[in-house]
Amino acid sequence: MTSNANQYTWAGRFSEPVSDLVKRYTASVDFDQRMWRQDIRGSLAHARMLAKQGIIAAADLADIERGMAIVSEEIESGKFEWSVDLEDVHLNIEKRLTALVGDAGKRLHTGRSRNDQVATDIRLYLRDAIDDIQVLLKAFRSALVDLAEKEAATPMPGFTHLQVAQPVTFGHHMLAYFEMFGRDAERYADCRKRVARLPLGAAALAGTTYPIDREYVAEQFGFEGVCENSLDAVSDRDFAIEFCAACALLMMHISRLSEELVMWMSPRVGFIQIADRFCTGSSIMPQKKNPDVPELARGKTGRVYGQLISLLTLMKSQPLAYNKDNQEDKEPLFDAVDTVTDTLRIFADMAGGITVRADNMQAALTQGFATATDLADYLVKKGLPFRDAHEAVGHAVKAAEAKGVDLPQLTLDELKAFCPQVENDVFSVLTVAGSLASRNHIGGTAPDQVRAAVARARQRLA
Ligand code: ARG
Repeated sequence: MTSNANQYTWAGRFSEPVSDLVKRYTASVDFDQRMWRQDIRGSLAHARMLAKQGIIAAADLADIERGMAIVSEEIESGKFEWSVDLEDVHLNIEKRLTALVGDAGKRLHTGRSRNDQVATDIRLYLRDAIDDIQVLLKAFRSALVDLAEKEAATPMPGFTHLQVAQPVTFGHHMLAYFEMFGRDAERYADCRKRVARLPLGAAALAGTTYPIDREYVAEQFGFEGVCENSLDAVSDRDFAIEFCAACALLMMHISRLSEELVMWMSPRVGFIQIADRFCTGSSIMPQKKNPDVPELARGKTGRVYGQLISLLTLMKSQPLAYNKDNQEDKEPLFDAVDTVTDTLRIFADMAGGITVRADNMQAALTQGFATATDLADYLVKKGLPFRDAHEAVGHAVKAAEAKGVDLPQLTLDELKAFCPQVENDVFSVLTVAGSLASRNHIGGTAPDQVRAAVARARQRLA
């Protein structure tokens, strides 16, 4: 008795609050309600298939369609009451449908489980997200091409090890990013093929006893096909992981560009300015204009890597088939979608707001012997083996450095002292314009090549 009384006391004190906590802990409606459009779309396709197969009556389908139109309208207008008691987006919508249309609503879940339902919703959601991302990526890449075209002949120092290496054009540099983001677009397109496969019909895990037509449902979605195995269909989230991996790579590219923008904007470098609307000031230092947007994008890269690792870890070692662990797939996924979408939208706009300080780039080009390789190549063309030419130019650079000048400022006699093969025509090779123009092959930085690459880039975007 005593122990029962104690238990009762304990239960009385804790059972309700704990129950609420567990309710909140296990519910997903707060975050999965963002898939409501996909959930309704999925349910309608399922209902049409059930009716076509004679599993539910045509009148039931009509009720379901009528009810779902009302539910849609309620959600759209913010009138819909989401309830944590109903756990997730699926049960919330189904319950409301049933309240509106009665038994037809109760028939909707025939031959279906929330396991195949949620897997379908995520795939529909992700396919939409990929399509949005592709539009934004295209706009961003097209802004990069515009910038590349404008600055196709603008010389800047190309760096290796962050040391001046050889002249390149700013346009060429922008087209490097065009390529990176192009591969990102390819990755999303490839991922989309595996996202767009239909889990519905797998039901809880083993399939269903009704005479369903999965192909018909897949066709309604414009999916590539059905998931071949019911256990796999409800349990794996590799498509979401793959999506996050594509996002992580995209953000890695964004972070590289961001780092360069921040560096180029530093007054010590002064290669570019970005439009004021992407910068913020300081609350204490009146003179400041900080590149907050690229800095944040650099920071958000870590966040997206984190989402990828979350999903990989979520999936690791999960036994077949569905486990509730999988409910945790949504927040990382949605966050990756939001972060990438916002970042691309801002970057497409920001790329158009970059102005180049050609004078500062030109000045930087005189401070690092950027045409030393050109001098070595010149000597090779005069008959010297490359390794000997490399050594001779090394001596010339050392002498120029001691004198405090750049290579073109050395006299012909001074140059001859290191490389007797040098003649008067050497000076055209030592100029930045000469250096650029001579890298005249596909993939090279010669302004003509950059313009040709811009034209090809535009074709690829079309
Ligand atoms: N809210 C769940 C999720 O996101 C839906 C599937 C629930 N299935 C289950 N058997 N509890 O994964």
